[in-house]
Amino acid sequence: MRTILLAFLVLASACDPEVGSLAECAPVAAGATIDDTVPPIVDADLQGWLASASYVAYLPESAAHPSAGPHGGSVRTFVNRALAGSLGTCATSHPVGAAAVKELHGDAGLRGWAVMVKTRPAAGAASWYWYEVFDTAPGATPAFSGQGDDTCTGCHDGGLDAIRTAWPLG
Ligand code: HEC
Repeated sequence: MRTILLAFLVLASACDPEVGSLAECAPVAAGATIDDTVPPIVDADLQGWLASASYVAYLPESAAHPSAGPHGGSVRTFVNRALAGSLGTCATSHPVGAAAVKELHGDAGLRGWAVMVKTRPAAGAASWYWYEVFDTAPGATPAFSGQGDDTCTGCHDGGLDAIRTAWPLG
């Protein structure tokens, strides 16, 4: 009986693999300090914020790895506290203010960023602000930006409220 109960608990805590790419509901380690700053969503302000590496106290992937999507080269994702907490409970909708910053690395090092910021309560890629830039200068302009940018939404709607990176972060 105990074994059956344990098996049920393990199954019940696993995420539905159809919903997103979460391997399990692994909460953020107690006592972990993760910055909860929300990136600015005005392009010029965001580019300066990124160029100052303002996201480095977010929860990071341990290292850059090849992108499974069209982002090119290798990538390393950082998530703020609101998003980490939400991913850690397998939430199917992340809170407004949840944010992910993805570093884009090429042969010559850091070459830009892809960013998502949740701006509206409803689940789905249309509720996020999207930004991607292939230049690290503080004054550079993005290749893509905007609320619900449809360059980004079709593919990201396959994720868990638009998040495609596997959780827990690798
Ligand atoms: C054809 C699919 C596809 C498209 C289009 C796409 N992405 Fe992604 N994106 C991915 C995948 C897959 C990942 C997971 C990490 C990886 O392998 O790069 C990802 C990860 C991310 C992440 C890290 C957080 C997360 O969701 O995992 C951000 C931020 C991001 N993308 C932003 C963008 C932006 C901005 C655009 C549009 C300019 C965009 N993406 C378009 C496939 C896509």
